[in-house]
Amino acid sequence: MQTKIYTNYETLSAAVAQIMFDTIQQKPNAVICLASGHTPLLPCQLFVQKANDEHLHISETTFIGLDEWVAVPPENEGSCHYFLYNTIFNPLILQAGQIHVFNSMAEDLNAECETMDAVIEHNGGIDLMIVGIGMNGHIGFNEPGVAFNNLSHVIELDKTTIEVGQKYFPAATTLSRGITIGLQHLMNAKQVLLIANGEKKASIIKKTIEEEVSNQIPATIMQTHSNGMIMIDAAAASQLSKNYLYEV
Ligand code: GLP
Repeated sequence: MQTKIYTNYETLSAAVAQIMFDTIQQKPNAVICLASGHTPLLPCQLFVQKANDEHLHISETTFIGLDEWVAVPPENEGSCHYFLYNTIFNPLILQAGQIHVFNSMAEDLNAECETMDAVIEHNGGIDLMIVGIGMNGHIGFNEPGVAFNNLSHVIELDKTTIEVGQKYFPAATTLSRGITIGLQHLMNAKQVLLIANGEKKASIIKKTIEEEVSNQIPATIMQTHSNGMIMIDAAAASQLSKNYLYEV
């Protein structure tokens, strides 16, 4: 794992967008797995702009949504579905067959998980995975205590996730379970970027990078990924010990 620190959210976002662009340019049929949330907003917007401006050949690329709140419908603007379609899938004008997201309204959520695992396998695995980090160290909805060898699964949400998650919704929303790509998928992915910005992420970023690998802080799994990169801005890096500082 490498850690890269950028001056601010804008330069961090431009670097993430460039990696997305390069990955698809080098391998047009790449499989890209994307988180939703506030952190990937600007990276996705910059990527869309660059892909459209430079006519990136994107019709063979497969996009996978990392996670979803169970029982939150896609038209709810706090859903991951809403974010991904509005920020990236619709502006890129993708074909429906290129997009795979969990249907968290489905009656059989285990079948949703099996379908997602089969899609990933059928397409030869994930080439690039871009994830954020929750205030409790979760990745997707891989909450503290999760098994590192899980594939897609449904999980009871942690108290912190339920509280912090309210920020995405216009009105108080009942959140109890999540459906998510598992950490075994992350370990199998050819490249993983964990991105974070802002001072509020500084404490969990310090733990993720400096503490021992443990499922109590699921993001520590990044330390064991041979092609994993933690990309953060200076504010999110502000609590790192000197030994862990790598400026770019
Ligand atoms: C959310 C999502 C994650 C996301 C993380 C950070 O709850 N389940 O996929 O990466 O928390 O979100 P944000 O970027 O808004 O801080």
